[in-house]
Amino acid sequence: SYTSKKKSDIISTVEFNSTGELLATGDKGGRVVVFQREQESKNQPHRRGEYNVYSTFQSHEPEFDYLKSLEIEEKINKIRWLPQQNAAYFLLSTNDKTVKLWKISERDKRPEGYNLKDEDGRIRDPTTITALRVPVLRPMDLMVEATPRRVFSNAHTYHINSISVNSDYETFMSTDDLRINLWNLEITNRSFNIVDIKPVNMEELTEVITAAEFHPHQCNTFVYSSSKGSIRLCDMRASALCDNHSKFFEEPEDPSNRSFFSEIISSISDVKFSHSGRYLMTRDYLTVKVWDLNMESKPLETYQVHDYLRSKLCSLYENDCIFDKFECVWNGSDSVIMTGSYNNFFRMFDRNTKRDVTLEASRENSKPRAILKPRKVCVGGKCRKDEISVDSLDFSKKILHTAWHPYENIIAVAATNNLYIFQDKVN
Ligand SMILES: *[C@@H]1O[C@H](CO)[C@@H](O)[C@H](O)[C@H]1NC(C)=O
Ligand SMILES: *[C@@H]1O[C@H](CO)[C@@H](O)[C@H](O)[C@H]1NC(C)=O
Ligand SMILES: *[C@@H]1O[C@H](CO)[C@@H](O)[C@H](O)[C@H]1NC(C)=O
Ligand SMILES: *[C@@H]1O[C@H](CO)[C@@H](O)[C@H](O)[C@H]1NC(C)=O
Ligand SMILES: *[C@@H]1O[C@H](CO)[C@@H](O)[C@H](O)[C@H]1NC(C)=O
Repeated sequence: SYTSKKKSDIISTVEFNSTGELLATGDKGGRVVVFQREQESKNQPHRRGEYNVYSTFQSHEPEFDYLKSLEIEEKINKIRWLPQQNAAYFLLSTNDKTVKLWKISERDKRPEGYNLKDEDGRIRDPTTITALRVPVLRPMDLMVEATPRRVFSNAHTYHINSISVNSDYETFMSTDDLRINLWNLEITNRSFNIVDIKPVNMEELTEVITAAEFHPHQCNTFVYSSSKGSIRLCDMRASALCDNHSKFFEEPEDPSNRSFFSEIISSISDVKFSHSGRYLMTRDYLTVKVWDLNMESKPLETYQVHDYLRSKLCSLYENDCIFDKFECVWNGSDSVIMTGSYNNFFRMFDRNTKRDVTLEASRENSKPRAILKPRKVCVGGKCRKDEISVDSLDFSKKILHTAWHPYENIIAVAATNNLYIFQDKVN
């Protein structure tokens, strides 16, 4: 586990690269930390590699929008890796307004023997240059550098909640509360608006976009979710502006469950395509749902994340927790899903066996070789010794962001300022 105490260190996003060897986190202070997995050593082939800090850099700085008198936070909302094309790694990071493309590269040689400048980079007096030198590369300690390659700005009036790289690897989209823009990775001064739900009169606004993602294989298809609990699948081949969805997924509300909080708790905080591209997973306040792309009328599966909170919605509204945005992830084979809860608990649901488990991210559990013990929450009455009462849950400890290694049973769980990485034991 990696720990800190400062508020700016609160982790706001976690993302593995597509081989799982690199893991990036973004935080409230605008920093990105990249972890790299140790190479497996030949002497201990059964010991799995640990993740060590590879590079840390400041991706975004706080800014001030003078026209609107608004502060723009440096907090990193999302990170997405690009496929590797040469020795360097590339990732996109975004705060509320600006997406940046970063290049992370290694350097272990340094050029020496310039003609026009000295070794410290100062320009030499031309009259003292009498001989021509041939510059040489000298070895030096390995250095990892992060350099901003492109800045995609000035295209969002509202807050960016998602970025998603297209499977054509040439374009990506950025999504705010009311609009989705499509960018070419090479072009920063122009983007195309592909969804716009802003009503002519803002007083008629009833719904905002909460998340969006490209299909993993079909480059013309993407989905976006809304605060009303619906999901729209769009086809970019149909028209330039995808305001007309091609599929609309929504579950009719159970009238017996209707309450003052129904609309708030049905807002979708995350939407993810399965690796296969056949299913969608959505997270709302109390549940995770799996949808078949071929069935719009209702979800295929619904999993209760923390149904015991249904009776506490009033106090969760008063302390604003009801607006927490929990993410959800698939494991590499789409058979298990994971999402967070309170009290540093997170949940896993096995879609085949229908078994579910509550686990806890804690300092104690993160000791090497510690085994995660399932936890149980009890409602009313007497709790058993190993159970925790719903009234003693700590709502300030929440797991909003998690990531699952693309091929292995390794998960990364962000619990406020701590990052926990849990891996399966090898036999
Ligand atoms: C992910 O990171 C690893 C380790 O550095 C690298 O070898 C691999 O090519 C990366 N994968 C992609 C798709 O970028
Ligand atoms: C974007 O920049 C390129 C290169 O600087 C320029 O040729 C092009 O006209 C610009 N496009 C817009 C829409 O400003
Ligand atoms: C969306 O669909 C409606 C009704 O089918 C149609 O009138 C409208 O022109 C369509 N809009 C676009 C942008 O295709
Ligand atoms: C209605 O509430 C019950 C628990 O009170 C829950 O199990 C059920 O899933 C809810 N129905 C819907 C459609 O959300
Ligand atoms: C997904 O989880 C299942 C159940 O634990 C496991 O058998 C499978 O290997 C996992 N898939 C990957 C790719 O990690």
